[in-house]
Amino acid sequence: MDWIINNFLTADETEEIVEYYDALPYAPEYSSHRNRRKLMHYDLPETPYLKSVFQPKIEKHFPGGHVSASTFTEWHTPTNLHTDAWQGHEDKSHKLGITILIPLRITPVEAESSTIIFEQYMPDNLPLIQIAGPNEDSSANGFISHNDPRIQNKQENAITTEFYNSHLKHIPDQNMLRDFSVDRVHKWTIGDAFYWTRNYFHTSSSFDPKLKTKLHAIFFITFP
Ligand SMILES: [Fe+2]
Repeated sequence: MDWIINNFLTADETEEIVEYYDALPYAPEYSSHRNRRKLMHYDLPETPYLKSVFQPKIEKHFPGGHVSASTFTEWHTPTNLHTDAWQGHEDKSHKLGITILIPLRITPVEAESSTIIFEQYMPDNLPLIQIAGPNEDSSANGFISHNDPRIQNKQENAITTEFYNSHLKHIPDQNMLRDFSVDRVHKWTIGDAFYWTRNYFHTSSSFDPKLKTKLHAIFFITFP
């Protein structure tokens, strides 16, 4: 499987979606200093635009999939190593499914960004999991240690220092990655879509020194 759909959006569609995005209000309850989110209100009949663009494409590429959550997120800093688990309002009677990420804007345009998917995963149906750093309490809700026995398919010392230095320096303690191995690196190309199984660990790449912000649309897709 390639896990990528090139030109998921046309250049015109992307431009129109970004214009639509810029006019939306921020969702303060879902935003922090690290990232700013805007809600899509995907299923609201009063705001049909986004669904009219995305839904035919999602149905074509992911037959039987149901959009159970969707947002725009503009990142100002890289993300931690984590899984995408159930959101509060999702129907847990369905299979956890996949996350689809569609890069929409990189500021400035000449900067680069990637998303890194690991070969390790958590058993299905667990809450959002992040790997705890040296200053975090791994017993806190949602944070676990890198050697937690629930992490599946551990590989010891599989990430080279060269890869760490080029992609993962935002994870301060290299030891946190000791049991992880990289499955794939998705370099961001605007308008492409790439996806992963939601209980697999992933993170953004470290921010290229030029990179100020990056914007994506995210869809969580569940299956019957
Ligand atoms: Fe995620």
